Amino acid sequence: MNTFYVTTPIYYVNSQPHLGNLYTTLVADCLKRYKTQRGFETFFLTGTDEHGVNVGRVAAQAGRTPREHVDYVAAQFQNFFAEFKLDSAHGGYDIFMRTTAPFHLEGVTQLWRRVRETPTPKGREAIYKGYYEGWFCPACAEFKTEDEYIKPEREGDAPLCLVHSVALDRVAEESYFFRLSDYADALLELYESRADFILPESRRNEVMSFVRGGLQDLSISRLKSSVGWGLPVPDDPAHTIYVWFDALTNYITAIGYGNEERERVVGFEKFWPAVHLVGKDILRFHAVYWPAFLLAAKLEPPRTVYAHGMWLDRDGRKMSKTIGNTIELDVLQRYFSIDALRYFCLREMVFGQDGKFSYEALIDRVNSDLAGGIGNLASRTFKMVSIYCNDAIPSGQIDEDKYLLAKRAGVDPDALAFSKTLERARDEFITHFDEFAFSRALEAAWSIVARVDKMISDAKPWELAKDEAQKQTLHAVLYRAAEALRWLSVMLYPIMPDAALAIYAQLGLTDDVTKLDPAKLHWGELKEQTKIGETKPLFPRIDKTKTMAEIEKTNEHTGTHATEADAVAGASITNETTPQPPMQSATEADAVPAQASGSAQSSATAVAVSNDDNLASFIGIEDFAKVDLRVGEILTAERVPKSDKLLRFTIDIGEAQPRQILAGIAEYYEPEKMIGRKVVVVANLKPRKLRGLESQGMVVAASYGEEGRPVVATFTEDVPNGARLK
Ligand code: MSP
Repeated sequence: MNTFYVTTPIYYVNSQPHLGNLYTTLVADCLKRYKTQRGFETFFLTGTDEHGVNVGRVAAQAGRTPREHVDYVAAQFQNFFAEFKLDSAHGGYDIFMRTTAPFHLEGVTQLWRRVRETPTPKGREAIYKGYYEGWFCPACAEFKTEDEYIKPEREGDAPLCLVHSVALDRVAEESYFFRLSDYADALLELYESRADFILPESRRNEVMSFVRGGLQDLSISRLKSSVGWGLPVPDDPAHTIYVWFDALTNYITAIGYGNEERERVVGFEKFWPAVHLVGKDILRFHAVYWPAFLLAAKLEPPRTVYAHGMWLDRDGRKMSKTIGNTIELDVLQRYFSIDALRYFCLREMVFGQDGKFSYEALIDRVNSDLAGGIGNLASRTFKMVSIYCNDAIPSGQIDEDKYLLAKRAGVDPDALAFSKTLERARDEFITHFDEFAFSRALEAAWSIVARVDKMISDAKPWELAKDEAQKQTLHAVLYRAAEALRWLSVMLYPIMPDAALAIYAQLGLTDDVTKLDPAKLHWGELKEQTKIGETKPLFPRIDKTKTMAEIEKTNEHTGTHATEADAVAGASITNETTPQPPMQSATEADAVPAQASGSAQSSATAVAVSNDDNLASFIGIEDFAKVDLRVGEILTAERVPKSDKLLRFTIDIGEAQPRQILAGIAEYYEPEKMIGRKVVVVANLKPRKLRGLESQGMVVAASYGEEGRPVVATFTEDVPNGARLK
């Protein structure tokens, strides 16, 4: 079996987890899931980089020993990844690597010795002892040359790091050096012979010109007396190994280099070389120093080093707590599903370029691409299969004698053109995914969503349903939509696992999607008569105005977490993980107008369910069509204990089970008198909990007068339950 090994950088433990860390790990998670589907045996590494002078300092500021500190922050990272379902338990990373693990020391020691004992291409010692004098940035963990720092204004002061604006440390001590200068030719040959070694190409060019400009030998140790928190240099414990030599080596020690037990369990031989995903800020370490160390030890260099861009705020600025433009992870957790976030990260940033991240942009994507795109497609398809086909996938076949009828309704009698479009989009999706062009892969997938939406609006199944002679056409249209959803759920699984699995289950299918190869999807394999599963809304629409107001309010009240920039700039980790505020539960008071127009709201509120932006303007018919209004019959009605306002109904809207719906009209209506009444129900409103009871829709009512007296809308003519209002 082919293997695929993907890594993220291991993150510094001197700042709390932030969006940047989440991003790289999330992309790696998508890649792992995709490659697993494609039949590879995969291994995915993320973790923490736990040594170095800065860790000692930050630990001291936090009143902890370095050991206590790294354990504490590593646990924070692990919890954080688990919350975003990126841990092993959720099918995410295979190892959370920590450079304080004992096996790591064994592997680093072995690598150091091998480098030391193997002559350079010019026949010299690869590691030699010398004397280093210069400036070192503790935040970058890097020595700085004159053009990489800001000269001090006053003589005698330390210069400042160009990246972090922190004072540099003066280092003047004995040090081991790695003879990097002897590897320039070997590195250039590597870059030239393997066009996909550094990606994207623009970064490859940058690295090549850097190396062509000449390489200086690299100091790879510090005196233990100045940097105590680190791994000892083999056979010379008075020295500590330079943190980047230590950290980069994690990629091979994690899978078994230097440790027999790990080699047996994972396998360096089996999985190496890896695909490294890194931010462009640390490309040089991965594309120059790391392959040089490996070449020096006569080990294979990585398969690919892919440098992605940075997330900036919506104005294109670096995120920083001082500016107040950071993205808060607890806010993301509170208002957005993990799938929505994963989709946004992959769709919004062209992998390799910088991208802009804002809550507004995230909400827009959720509403347009997810709620309005795939979510809407799935819910309308399942609803139609339910209403018109008795919850069973219909046949996709149209008999020849019905061809003309189908054509008259604008439906291709055979599905050839449709299935070809699907295959083309799927092939594009795969090509782009293989090239790390995630946003383009998603565009290809969404071209399927658009194609199916168009087929449905052209064919108008609701019209076809009125004509018995068009039954086959109706069924063929619904079959095609359902089959396209099957394809989409397989393709989208790596990006939005929960939603994809939900669609797959709603189709009534039970295969293990995690192992279904999108390349092996064949048209027509969805079996007719498959009973569809329980349908649930996948991506509820987000009320942008309301949500943004809430987010802004939370930010004012809670302040923000330190960002990477602040933390590495020397700020201590003073803000421990703040306990997660509970999910925003709707209060009864705010639920009443939304659920039943029972307060002094205009009746328009009832219909413009979640788009305050549209309240004052006209909406198109397609917007109105998104609100699923149904005739419902009240089967039971009772007061909700301890509530003056709420009535609890069960209402038959023509589905297999009646819905439980709460309405804030108890002050005006006797429950008994409501039983048997036909009412108007908003059927696709996101379910919400009130007084611990889930309300699965809303009863429409007019509302008038100062106190917003509700008058429940009803019918004067007989009408079947479930009939749609349009
Ligand atoms: N410990 C080193 C890496 C050692 S790997 C052998 C390190 N750690 S870090 O905590 O600073 O993480 C850096 C990584 O976080 C970046 O390379 C990138 O992957 C990610 N990001 C940090 N800020 C980011 C953004 N604003 N946007 C996107 N990713 C960013 O460097």
